[in-house]
This record gives sequence, structure tokens and C-alpha cells, in this order.
Amino acid sequence: MNDKIEVLRQEFVAAVKEVKTAADLMSLENRFLGRKRGRLTELMKELKGVPKQQVAQFGQTANKLKLEIVEKISLLKNELANPQGGGFDLDYTLPGKAFPIGHLHLASQAIREIADIFETIGFQRARYPEVEWDYYAFEALNMPADHPARDEWETFFIDRQPINKKMGQRVLTPHTSSGQVREMEKGKLPIRMMNISKTYRRQIDASHVPMFHQFEGLVIDKDINITHLKGTVEYFVKKFFGPERTIRLRPHHFKFTEPSFEVDISCGVCDGQGCKLCKQGWLELAGAGMVHPNVLKAGGIDPKKYSGFAFGWGVERCYMMKSGLAIDDIRLLYKNDLRVINQF
Ligand code: PHE
Repeated sequence: MNDKIEVLRQEFVAAVKEVKTAADLMSLENRFLGRKRGRLTELMKELKGVPKQQVAQFGQTANKLKLEIVEKISLLKNELANPQGGGFDLDYTLPGKAFPIGHLHLASQAIREIADIFETIGFQRARYPEVEWDYYAFEALNMPADHPARDEWETFFIDRQPINKKMGQRVLTPHTSSGQVREMEKGKLPIRMMNISKTYRRQIDASHVPMFHQFEGLVIDKDINITHLKGTVEYFVKKFFGPERTIRLRPHHFKFTEPSFEVDISCGVCDGQGCKLCKQGWLELAGAGMVHPNVLKAGGIDPKKYSGFAFGWGVERCYMMKSGLAIDDIRLLYKNDLRVINQF
């Protein structure tokens, strides 16, 4: 019996030398370890005929050979899978895997860019509550309760009824203009404020999202007039959209500015000639105007001594106009679909 085991070992050693491919290895494994007709299985069957005293010893020797074969085959498998790897799939010289790196959302990118531009001409960044009193959002801006102009702001109300005599109910601020009187109340003049913040309106469709961003400029000093407003807006437009763009002021109406304007910017696609995208060469950008005396009074500022201008625009809207992005549904910006977000 011992001889038979030894013969089998020699046979295995000889067979190993012939193995060149994975297929060879498989048939080797089958030939020696196969459950039904493997050489080792056959050998084990012969144990039945061995005298009782010798069974244990033969069994051990046969098992030892089996272990040797199993180990050798698994080694060979590794070698075949990694030809130069010394059995390991590890090459220290390979460049590492690059992990995907995120980036700022385009609204954040635009906010930083806008803040930087205004910072160079002395505007200081401010932020005021997103959950705001009716007073600052409307009342102090020359829009008394029940004034129909309020309807334009599609406001989310937090309280059903006024909960404070002066302040009224709480709202989600529908525009950054709610920061105007808060800024004045700080009591420091002159003012050059840049308030960039989230704003909320009850509108959702292809061109509206209920949460968006606005940036609001407010300047108050002695002898401030419309030329300052126009110069400031033009400076921003040329920096943000490009030096070839120009603006025009179109008369408009807001309760908190007098006179009020809508700012148009020359169309970047047709260069002011008129095209499908624009209205006769102009694109509507946003509102602006000279601060209404009643608003100055609400902020404790004497309108006989001081005057100012304000403008408040949508961040997303500006960004889309700048990039010429033809997004036909603005809601995509906030859907967190990486296929969209990763393009900016
Ligand atoms: N708050 C106005 C809006 O949301 C814009 C505006 C700001 C107009 C400042 C004039 C002055 O539409």
C-alpha cells in the first residue's frame, strides 16, 4: 500500500510538469482529486481491503499526499492567474485609482463670483433671516397689509395670523429686499451692502423653483443719484457677462423704489441685433430703483439728507444668461441628478 501511495506521488509530480495552461490544470485537478474517478479517490477505496492494524497508518499517508496535491494545485492556480506577480496581484508602480472629486453647485459658483465682483467696488456681504417678518418683507418696504402689490411675491406664510403687532406674521422671505431696512437699522452710514441669500416663492414650473437665490445691492449716502445706480449695474454686467455687453434701464414700478426700473442687458447671441432668444436685442435681467423715501424713513434715515439705490436679481437667472445655457427646465438645477450637475 505504501508503495502505491509513493507511485501516485511520482505520477502527480510528473503530471505537474506537463501543466501549461489553465485547462491543463483543470484536467490535472480532475485526474487526481476528482470525486468519482480521481486517482486519489480510487486509492482511498482500496483502503477497504487493508488489514485493520494498518488502516490508520495508510490513511494518514494517503491524506498527507492529498494535502500536498491540493496545496500544489492551488499554488499553480495563483501562478497562472498572475504570471509575473509572484502569486500576488500587487504592483506598487501602478498609478493609484482616482477618486471622483465633487465640485460646488453652480448656484454656489455664481454666488462666489458675484460677491467677488461687488467686493472690488466696496460692497460688503450681508445676510438676513430666511424666515422673516412680514414687516421687513413688505410693510417697511412701503407695502402696507392688503396692498395688492404684495401678490406679485407669491409668499409662503408661516403663521396664519399676525403674531406680533408691529412685525405681523412670519414668512419665508420672497426677496432679498427684506434686508434693506434691517441693514439701515444697524445705524451705520454710508451703506454699501450686498445681501445674497435664499428666497422662496409659491411657484413651480419649467421656469420657476420655489427656492432660488437673489443678490441685492443697497447703497445709501449723500447725493446718490441714478447715474450711480447705472454705473454700478453696468460695472457688474461687464465683469460678469463680458465687456461687450451693455445695459439699459426701462421704467417699471416697485413700491419700495421711486423711480423704479427694469434692467435689460444686450443679448449675447445676436449682439443686440434681435433674435429668437431676446426682445429686439435686449434680455430682461431684473429690478432696480432709487430707494423710496418711506423706506429710508422706516430705516431711521432722513430722506432729506440721504438718498440711495437698490437692485435685486436672481442668481440662477444671471448664471443661465451668462453661460448661454439652454436649460428648458430650471427645476433640473435642484434635482441633484449628477448627469446634469456634473456638466458645470
Ligand atoms: N425685490 C425685487 C424683486 O424681487 C427686486 C428689486 C430689488 C427691485 C431692489 C428694486 C429694488 O423683484
